[in-house]
Amino acid sequence: MTKIQIINGPNLNLLGKREPGIYGTQGFETYLEELRRRYPEVQIDYLQSNHEGDLIDCIHQVGFDYDGIVLNAGAYTHTSVALLDALKAVSTPAIEVHISNVHQREEFRHKSMISAGCKGVICGFGLDSYRLAIEAIVSVNN
Ligand code: DQA
Repeated sequence: MTKIQIINGPNLNLLGKREPGIYGTQGFETYLEELRRRYPEVQIDYLQSNHEGDLIDCIHQVGFDYDGIVLNAGAYTHTSVALLDALKAVSTPAIEVHISNVHQREEFRHKSMISAGCKGVICGFGLDSYRLAIEAIVSVNN
C-alpha cells in the first residue's frame, strides 16, 4: 500500500474560516475525507501543527519508509532553514504545496526556503493542490 503523510503547518487548522477569499470555505478535515474516499488504495496520514519542531519530528518519523510527504509548511515555507534541513535529511520525497498562488501575492511569499529540499512544488489550485501532489506520488509508485 502506498503511504503518504500530509503535513500542514501554522494557521492551516483554521482553513474554512481563515481568509476565505484566499483559502476557500472548506475545512481540511472534510477535504481529507474526500481524499481518502478517492484514494482507497493509499494510506493517507495527516498532521497539522502550529509548531515548527512538530513538523520536523513528523518528517523524521515518516521520512525513511513512507512513499511521499505532502507538505504545506504555511509561513514556515518562507523562513525555515530547519525544515529544509529536515527534508534533506530523509529519503522520502516531499512535495511542497500551497493552496494559493504565492507568486501572485506579497513579495515575501515568492521565496521558499524549502523548495530545494522537495521533489516538486504545486501551488495555486486551492485545496486541489493536495490531490495533485498525491497524484504525482501515486503515479511515480505505480
Ligand atoms: C500558504 C501560503 C503561505 O504564504 C502562507 O503563509 C500560508 C498558506 C498556502 O497554502 O497558500 O499559511 O502556504
